[in-house]
Amino acid sequence: MSKPRILVTSAAGNTGIPTTLQLLEKGFPVRAFVRSNDHRATRLRSAGAEIFVGDLFSIADMRRAMKGVQRAYHCAPLSPNTLHYGTVFALTAQEARLEHVVMLAQWLSSSNHPSMFTREVWMNEAVLKLLPETTLTVNNVGWFAENYFMGVLGTIAQLGILPMPLGDGDVKKNAPPSNADIAAVTVAALIDPATHAGKVYRPTGPELLSPNDIATIMGRVLERKVKYQDMPESMLLKALKVNGFHEMMPTQLRVYADEYRRGAFAVHAPNNVVKDLTGREPEDFETLTRRVVAAHPEAIQTVGNRLKAIVNLMKIMLSAKVDADAIERRRDHVLLTAPNFVQDSQVWRDAHDPEAGYLPDRPGSNDVPLSLARERSGVTS
Ligand SMILES: NC(=O)c1ccc[n+]([C@@H]2O[C@H](COP(=O)([O-])OP(=O)(O)OC[C@H]3O[C@@H](n4cnc5c(N)ncnc54)[C@H](OP(=O)(O)O)[C@@H]3O)[C@@H](O)[C@H]2O)c1
Repeated sequence: MSKPRILVTSAAGNTGIPTTLQLLEKGFPVRAFVRSNDHRATRLRSAGAEIFVGDLFSIADMRRAMKGVQRAYHCAPLSPNTLHYGTVFALTAQEARLEHVVMLAQWLSSSNHPSMFTREVWMNEAVLKLLPETTLTVNNVGWFAENYFMGVLGTIAQLGILPMPLGDGDVKKNAPPSNADIAAVTVAALIDPATHAGKVYRPTGPELLSPNDIATIMGRVLERKVKYQDMPESMLLKALKVNGFHEMMPTQLRVYADEYRRGAFAVHAPNNVVKDLTGREPEDFETLTRRVVAAHPEAIQTVGNRLKAIVNLMKIMLSAKVDADAIERRRDHVLLTAPNFVQDSQVWRDAHDPEAGYLPDRPGSNDVPLSLARERSGVTS
């Protein structure tokens, strides 16, 4: 019997590329949904993927992309209007009568979270659960390992500074999962719905690391001293702007950084999800750092690269303050009067508590009803 065809959305992204490549390695036909026919599409095509160029927010494009597909990876880009993407995906998945979907959600995902993007991720998941003919596996990943390089690889490699607003450098606050491992968990669920339908998995790396641990590992790989620098939030916002990120990023990333400092990503981490689903140990941070460094020429220590890093830092220091509140008002963000960071929410704690049988890698944890029931009965924090 021929293997089911699998649609990978956001296929040129962090998790889309390894998901596509790993599925192809396992012999599954893959339709890779990309925004443009660039070098990443060429790489996926030469590995055997069918490339579909389109707009994830277009119902016509998504309808065409779903034709002849039996399963799909739902990966919303970190961009405004994720709810629109989620609705387009759910409607067309229903029309195409997909048998199984794996969704990339978030460890923080909850209905009362201060991040609007996170609440919308929660809603997208809730809508997918309503599809009568489609089963769902949720990849409930936390703070990606690759985030530590986002926009700052030059500063790390050339200036020996890891500037991030992650609080106390000595506190171990994350067991960072690699893109390859996040993808491997998604792939395991895509190719075996009989085992994984209805489950929620939260892949982690092998150990909890502090910001200082992370800087030390980076220094070892780069063969230079790297020092973690707790960065004020205002600098993070300016750095995102100078480095060309969409203006919605500061409004959401400042909440995620706050959750990081509060220790939300250290809750129930590390775990055995990657080992249990793939049969191999999760990648450690050093292995992943070696791969990132090898793939990025700006990590090579040269006079030119050092100058570029200094100029970038100067631009950030000299650029105007970013008013994230004003961006939220301008973009009509829905602002809750009493939002909950996850550890302040009884609903979230129950839904993520292994002692209560709600372990992310255990059957049944995909059921919304317990949390919904509590919220409806007024227990919201
Ligand atoms: N980073 C974290 O720590 C973290 C933690 C938990 C969950 N997540 C979840 O991760 C998800 C993002 O996954 P990711 O990092 O794998 O994705 P990603 O790297 O942001 O990739 C998104 C891809 O979608 C493409 N894209 C954007 N808008 C498009 C459009 N309108 N039409 C077609 N393609 C479009 C982008 O194309 P271009 O590259 O051409 O722009 C990009 O290749 C988010 O939903 C977020 O909730 C992230």
